[in-house]
Amino acid sequence: MTDLAAALIDTLPKAELHLHIEGTLEPEMMLALAARNGVELPYATVEEVRAAYEFDCLQDFLDVYYQGMSVLLTERDFHDLTWAYIERVQADGLSHTEMFFDPQAHTDRGVAFETVLGGIVSALEAAHREFGITSRLIMCFLRHLSEEQAFEALDCACRHKDHIHAVGLDSSEQGHPPAKFARVFEAARREGFRAVAHAGEEGPASNVRDSLDILGVARVDHGNRALDDPALTRRLADEGTPLTMCPISNWRLKGIPTLADSPVGAALDAGLLVTVNSDDPSYFGGYLNDNYRAVHEHLGVDAAGIVRLAKNSFAASFLPDREKQARLDAIDGQVESVRHRHASQGD
Ligand code: ADE
Ligand code: ZN
Repeated sequence: MTDLAAALIDTLPKAELHLHIEGTLEPEMMLALAARNGVELPYATVEEVRAAYEFDCLQDFLDVYYQGMSVLLTERDFHDLTWAYIERVQADGLSHTEMFFDPQAHTDRGVAFETVLGGIVSALEAAHREFGITSRLIMCFLRHLSEEQAFEALDCACRHKDHIHAVGLDSSEQGHPPAKFARVFEAARREGFRAVAHAGEEGPASNVRDSLDILGVARVDHGNRALDDPALTRRLADEGTPLTMCPISNWRLKGIPTLADSPVGAALDAGLLVTVNSDDPSYFGGYLNDNYRAVHEHLGVDAAGIVRLAKNSFAASFLPDREKQARLDAIDGQVESVRHRHASQGD
């Protein structure tokens, strides 16, 4: 007898809303690009790269993540990176992705903003042509850098509004609260960008509240610590604010001791618009469907819960309402067909 929830995970259309494209750099590609570009790395083999992927906290990971991306230099590198992610997840039923990129981590190394954007966009256009996968790009400000540097990145984004839909905030949460970026987010929203921010990953619930009240975000990335605060949890439920959660990432960064401790369960119980995502799948060892399987197997999220999470992924997206409805209808159609197949197998 097959597992209905597992069959739904394998086949339902889904959106991914929390994915750092630089976090999809697989060790094989890292070494190949290092050779292609003549970049020196402290690793000689795939095994040595993977051995570095043991993290005790977010900062441990970020140090390895910024070092890994030093191999990305040309437009072709960014295209190849993005295309590899698309090929990997189209088999998982991904039909829409809202992808973060970290331009300051590249412009700081002398790589032009347009080189980064051009490579990512050409791969996303090919994803639409070849697989019908739609996308939005979210440019993140690195919160360990200054407000002035964030304004420089915003200036670049303003030249490319046709390709960049939203701004986000990532990197080290400790010591870099949302208020540091109040003015840059206000300017970005005035320029017409939607806003999101990482908050409550390692920082307190107040970072989630301040992201809503000070930065004006439309959704919160992670948001785990919001569940420590009952009033804030009720507010998120009442206002239908999406949380983009990442169970395997939280576990690998020691934010939770086991996958069974993922806050996705409590967020579902509290009626939040929670979604499941991969964050940095190469570094954490799990792509989108692995994260869905994690909540099914470790939290006991059943078939109905999996359907709810897949629907939430579109409801929480930046797609226009009519398009959202089409994707929700596509999920209903797929659920019918999987249930039918299941019933005929005697389940
Ligand atoms: N950049 C890439 N992954 C991140 C994460 N999980 N938190 C903050 N910044 C990040
Ligand atoms: Zn993230």
